[in-house]
Amino acid sequence: MEFIDTHTHISDEAFAGEEEAIISRALEAGVTRMIQADVDSSEREPMYKLVESHPECLSAMLGLYPGSVHSDWRDELDAMLLYKERKFCAVGEIGLDYHYGAEDAEYQKEALRVQFDLALEWGKPVNIHLREATEDFFTILDDYRGRGLRGNLHAFSGSYETFCRIQKYGDWFVGLGGVITFKNSGIGKAVPDIPLDRILLETDAPYLTPVPYRGKRNESSMIPIIASFIAERKGLSPEVVANQTTNNAKVLFGPF
Ligand code: NI
Repeated sequence: MEFIDTHTHISDEAFAGEEEAIISRALEAGVTRMIQADVDSSEREPMYKLVESHPECLSAMLGLYPGSVHSDWRDELDAMLLYKERKFCAVGEIGLDYHYGAEDAEYQKEALRVQFDLALEWGKPVNIHLREATEDFFTILDDYRGRGLRGNLHAFSGSYETFCRIQKYGDWFVGLGGVITFKNSGIGKAVPDIPLDRILLETDAPYLTPVPYRGKRNESSMIPIIASFIAERKGLSPEVVANQTTNNAKVLFGPF
């Protein structure tokens, strides 16, 4: 079986010095590609260094994370644009996060619009981080309707209704990870309703570790656990889930 982890952070300090071991374990588990989510100028160079040393299995995104958007966000954006000639498969992770950054909401909304414009200019999909800001997100997305913006909601934990809502904007997927395995998670219960051809697998490692490893550090080799959970909930074989979600990732983010 072949899998793609569509959102991970191997350059995170949690993995310092262990990157090669993490990559090896993932490959052994059948995870043939790991897409690295960009955060900000503090992590970008190490991310690119790692990705460019493993083009056969790593891909980069380029984007400014909402948690790193403050009053100086235009400087951060300029720093990001220095990388625009490098290889990247998506603009991400970008979005809105009012759980931690409510005081920077206005900056976040501006930064999101600018990065949506860049994604359209570059012909790239977007990888969205969305937390406690659903209505503002859809208000912005309304302005981009019909312009070919496509992407996915990463670490999706919304309702089936929110899933249906994003479908009305065109070619949008949802990234499912460890959260679906958490007891009492709403998204876990919604898994049977979300069509497989709209699902991407992701870890968001080192965070959001799936049950039964919840509380421990997450890594890409745990992707098959997510796939098995989805397979079980949908009454499908793990092979079918692996094939379809890998194909989805290639269609949205490829060719790599
Ligand atoms: Ni992330």
